[in-house]
Amino acid sequence: MDYNITLIPGDGIGPEIVREARKVMDRVGQIYGHTFHYKEILMGGCSIDAYGVPLTQEALETARESDAVLLGAVGGNVGNSRWYDAAPDKRPEAGLLAIRRGLGLFANIRPAFLYDQLADACPLKQEIIGNGFDMVIVRELTGGLYFGARRTETIDGVMTAVDTLTYNENEIRRIAVKAFDIAMKRRKKVTSVDKANVLDSSRLWRKVVEEVAEDYPKVELSHMLVDNCAMQLVMNPGQFDVILTENMFGDILSDEASMITGSIGMLSSASLNESRFGLYEPSHGSAPDIAGQDIANPIATILSAAMLLRFSFDLDQEADAVEEAVRQVLKDGYRTGDIMSEGCIRIGTAQMGDRIAERIRSGR
Ligand code: NAD
Ligand code: IPM
Ligand code: MN
Repeated sequence: MDYNITLIPGDGIGPEIVREARKVMDRVGQIYGHTFHYKEILMGGCSIDAYGVPLTQEALETARESDAVLLGAVGGNVGNSRWYDAAPDKRPEAGLLAIRRGLGLFANIRPAFLYDQLADACPLKQEIIGNGFDMVIVRELTGGLYFGARRTETIDGVMTAVDTLTYNENEIRRIAVKAFDIAMKRRKKVTSVDKANVLDSSRLWRKVVEEVAEDYPKVELSHMLVDNCAMQLVMNPGQFDVILTENMFGDILSDEASMITGSIGMLSSASLNESRFGLYEPSHGSAPDIAGQDIANPIATILSAAMLLRFSFDLDQEADAVEEAVRQVLKDGYRTGDIMSEGCIRIGTAQMGDRIAERIRSGR
């Protein structure tokens, strides 16, 4: 079959990691008899440099018309990049928010899974990791603080900045349904994370999640405050199956969870709308500190490409083949710097892509 994919290399390490994911996709295409057609668009700082805006309407339409989108990352060095002082809608990250909103990608799925081979890269003690770590964060992606009214003004001579956090019941319900559906295919446990001891939006969140839970009697639901959750994740990570949470909490908890998998360079993600369309991206950023050095870990992006194959194209065997290739390469002892441990073979970004592509096997 033929598939149309929009590629967004973005900024920093984005182009390096997307190149490796494409290499792996092309190998999958060769072996399984698919043709992936790519169209590249600019988003983030590179689009600001070229067009003055982080995402052009034309680029958004290209993404919308394709079957799925694969993104590297956008953004510069926060605080001192040439894009930092621009107006909010002229910053690199605004392009990412615009594409999420513009394509209705309200459900961000971030699987956090510790490969046995990476046990040494996980900073937690063996007795804490116990029987392994395998959970999914289901993060609401088009509401909350990220999309509320925002302004900075001077009131009575005092500089004041305002961000607003709003959720309505429909936004909460649809992401809760996603989390419960995912839990049904896993260990049937949802932990809904909020700050219901303080925030009105969290109290509504809890109420709506409880209503949704009534339709899923087989799923065990519990609620946890976000500060406690941050602690529980490192104290007893094995207790979690599906974490359901709002936009900002999910952002923070997913970076924390990523480290339990060995590195943020391992955490893939899918941002989905109501249909099968999705934008797939690693959970990490553009890592300006290591850009252009061929040392970034491309695995999160390669695993995101596997999610793309599975969720948007229904190519389960092909997705399994990519995940298995990653496992084999880790078994072979190859590591990028971020997941390096004693006795392993350190390789760069491009070599990691080569090794994984070579390991793709036909399941037929
Ligand atoms: P970051 O995730 O880019 O980097 C945090 C740390 O992790 C850095 O030390 C980096 O070198 C390391 N790291 C990240 N990805 C890695 C990989 N694949 N392999 C090895 N090491 C890796 O976060 P940050 O430094 O806080 O943000 C940098 C820029 O990225 C900012 O402009 C931010 O807005 C942007 N950002 C973009 C996205 C996205 O496009 N989806 C996500 C997060 C951050
Ligand atoms: C992520 C990133 C983004 C977010 C930023 C770059 C807007 O941190 O995808 O996790 O906070 O959603
Ligand atoms: Mn983040």
